[in-house]
Amino acid sequence: MPSEIPNCIIRAMNLYDNDDILALCHDAFMYLGDQVNVTMMKIDHNCLHVAEDIDSGKVIGVCSGFNINTKCATFGEYSIAPRYRRFGIGNLLWSRCIAHCSNRNCGILASPKNVFKYREKSGFCVIPSRKLVQYCGYPHLFMLNKYHEDCDFEWINVYNLPDVIAYDEQVCGFNRTQFIQYSIGESSSVGMMARDIHSGKVMGYGIFRRSNQFSTIIPQPLYATSVEIAEALMYNALQKFAGFDKVFMECWDINTEATTLASQKLGLENIKTLNIMFTEYDIQANFGNIICNSPSQFYPF
Ligand SMILES: CC(C)(COP(=O)(O)OP(=O)(O)OC[C@H]1O[C@@H](n2cnc3c(N)ncnc32)[C@H](O)[C@@H]1OP(=O)(O)O)[C@@H](O)C(=O)NCCC(=O)NCCS
Repeated sequence: MPSEIPNCIIRAMNLYDNDDILALCHDAFMYLGDQVNVTMMKIDHNCLHVAEDIDSGKVIGVCSGFNINTKCATFGEYSIAPRYRRFGIGNLLWSRCIAHCSNRNCGILASPKNVFKYREKSGFCVIPSRKLVQYCGYPHLFMLNKYHEDCDFEWINVYNLPDVIAYDEQVCGFNRTQFIQYSIGESSSVGMMARDIHSGKVMGYGIFRRSNQFSTIIPQPLYATSVEIAEALMYNALQKFAGFDKVFMECWDINTEATTLASQKLGLENIKTLNIMFTEYDIQANFGNIICNSPSQFYPF
């Protein structure tokens, strides 16, 4: 550990910091899409801040505070490299993100050991009872439905994008045009949607991302009207990824079909259970249709 306070600056993330941030999050066991930070920066330019050791030029800390809209924000990716902890660098980064998200209702996911700290020191006093469960492992893909008799499956493209955006808004209550558009434009992601063959209505969609953890794919989000449709979306979309090993899923415990899919059918291991906390009020969504959360560093649904 450095014996003196390290020579650090806090600054907004630049595009060239992405690999360093992915590595930092990897070391802190945080799973995230390998281009999701770049996507989120396009939507909210200063949503990510980093700490840089100006002697070595290395990025040694990160924190995100993402403005979902003028009323709501989410905090995440809060991590400092182990040997730089307890010098107050975390707090400096945190303050910068607080300033960016000022006067909004803020959400954060916290491990049970951090709940007390966030409530007492940072004012996250609204703690709903639902929890976000993270699963990871080698998926039993042979267990999944490969088809659905009432649905066609399409890659998301400019023609079906408006329908996907409208479906997403029905589920989460927010218009996320930019998020979906930029996410499917990432070179390492694929987006797939399900459409009812009789009514033409969208019945679900997913964006599947390569991640910062070696050969692990993350569906973020995976929303569907039924878990059978979600299974077929996942099975078909995963075929696009050559040489992947594992799947990481974030499911709300109140959607037992989602947790059963992750744990029983796919055989993934429960690696973490996190509390969702807010500063002012709970942000509700249609959790029955949320099989996997959107990137949880940026959205609480
Ligand atoms: C949490 C973390 C980012 C703090 O960074 P840091 O530079 O050591 O923090 P500081 O020196 O500014 O502050 C030190 C103390 O304040 C706490 N703290 C820092 N920011 C805080 C915040 N926003 N709210 C509440 N407590 C906070 C720290 O946990 C630490 O508590 P401790 O003394 O009981 O261990 C760092 O410990 C870390 O990377 N931990 C591993 C990843 C992690 O757990 N992230 C949080 C995800 S929920």
